[in-house]
Amino acid sequence: MRKKIVAGNWKMNTLPAEGVELAKGVAAGRGTVCPSVNFIVCPPFTHLSEVAAALKGSDIELGAQNCAAEAKGAYTGEVAASMIAALGCKYVILGHSERRQYYGETSETLNKKMEQAYANGLTPIYCVGENLAEREADKHFDVVKAQIEEVVYNLTAEQFKHLVIAYEPVWAIGTGKTATADQAQEIHAYIRKVLAAKFGEAADECPILYGGSCKPSNAAEIFAKQDVDGGLIGGAALKAEDFLAIGQGFSK
Ligand code: PGA
Repeated sequence: MRKKIVAGNWKMNTLPAEGVELAKGVAAGRGTVCPSVNFIVCPPFTHLSEVAAALKGSDIELGAQNCAAEAKGAYTGEVAASMIAALGCKYVILGHSERRQYYGETSETLNKKMEQAYANGLTPIYCVGENLAEREADKHFDVVKAQIEEVVYNLTAEQFKHLVIAYEPVWAIGTGKTATADQAQEIHAYIRKVLAAKFGEAADECPILYGGSCKPSNAAEIFAKQDVDGGLIGGAALKAEDFLAIGQGFSK
């Protein structure tokens, strides 16, 4: 049985007090919502500590949106994996398309970040996905394959057991355009095949999340697909009610 995960990527939104309110709303509303779903919130670095405190006593888990490629030292403005782990994070989003696109993150950097994450006991949520031009040129399979081969293939079998993949087509992020459930299933199944080529049966246990304009109204259809194990949620994670309602999309 693969884990079912609904993870909220708050991106650069909310002030600390707003983040605490949002986290409290998620924790309070979580109550009876889908006990089998793992809910994760990923606030900005600045409120990790306060959000961790607000989540105490609930089963909502904490993640960060990024970490440094180095362990520590003279890297002005960077935040080390050890620091976010010390604040209670269990997860770290790595390789989000916004990081790749706006901050020039390459596979080389991501390999180092993955190592830092594992060295500090964090589970990476590793993001892959093609942009619109690549989708239109029918290159999406090749793009995600390369993003996996260049980074995930460098993991040990033990590390791979603690990995979450998020497939996020860039053209669907924040655009209101979602991949259809069939498009998601097609590429998720393909990603699992690429993972299996390296890690064998362990690929069956790896949660693969869909991300990109996922909301309460479309989650159920997408999550019903065989190889979709949940979602990485941006905009809709900023409202506790919507975020939790997305978790209700699981019927399987
Ligand atoms: P979105 O973002 O749900 O706002 O499209 C998803 C993401 O970038 O993780």
